[in-house]
Amino acid sequence: MWTALIVFFVFGLTSKIVSASEPKNLPSYLTACKKDAPDFDACCLSSARAGLPSIINGDKEYNIPNFKPLKVEKVDIKTGTLNLLIEDINLWGLDEADIKDFKVDLKNNKVKIDFHCPMIKILGKYQMDGKLNLLALKGNGDVNLTLEEPDFFFSTSYKLIKKGDYDYVQLEDENDISYDIQHLYLNFGNLFNGNELGKTTNEFLNKEWKSIIEDLNPTIKTTIKTIAVSIINGFITKIPYQNLFL
Ligand SMILES: *[C@@H]1O[C@H](CO)[C@@H](O)[C@H](O)[C@H]1NC(C)=O
Repeated sequence: MWTALIVFFVFGLTSKIVSASEPKNLPSYLTACKKDAPDFDACCLSSARAGLPSIINGDKEYNIPNFKPLKVEKVDIKTGTLNLLIEDINLWGLDEADIKDFKVDLKNNKVKIDFHCPMIKILGKYQMDGKLNLLALKGNGDVNLTLEEPDFFFSTSYKLIKKGDYDYVQLEDENDISYDIQHLYLNFGNLFNGNELGKTTNEFLNKEWKSIIEDLNPTIKTTIKTIAVSIINGFITKIPYQNLFL
């Protein structure tokens, strides 16, 4: 069991609740759904699906960065036995996301989003030193982590808070994140200065990807949470509750 310390910075994303500026409306690419309509769930899902391409292109007005690719400054993983730092990260593939489910449960104050991507590629520069289980790892260079056919499941509860004359949605810290991946491809370039041991170690890591991914679990969950929360916060910190729905 790893206890990982993860430092995670995404350029342009902020999960801070900024003080309310002028209350905004939903952007034109998102449809407001009628709260008590029988097709409320279907409306929310189709609105999210239709709006996704615009969200992915970034929207400064709502603090949404461009996702082609998403730039991540660094992910710093420190465990008892291994230090792994990945910097200058380009995360590719979120623009191909297919939203499978998006539910806003107005009675129980819950939001849930499930999405699938054909492929997520994480490319960056790594520095690594230590041991993974009993395997020694040391090197620095280019890293390529590619997740094939990942499914992501994110749900969180929220409360309404008053700011000025308006109620705003605020996400609770507690959330439920899981994912399912068909395959993880890993390549640490220049491992052990790129010698033969580096090659066989990369081969071993790829063969053992299922146990590797267990070890990367906290990092992957933090990543999903940061991205999902940041996108949702982009809108809900600027749009009062009464403007989110009809
Ligand atoms: C990263 O790995 C994937 C999967 O093997 C591959 O398709 C892709 O070309 C690689 N990208 C780079 C920049 O090495």
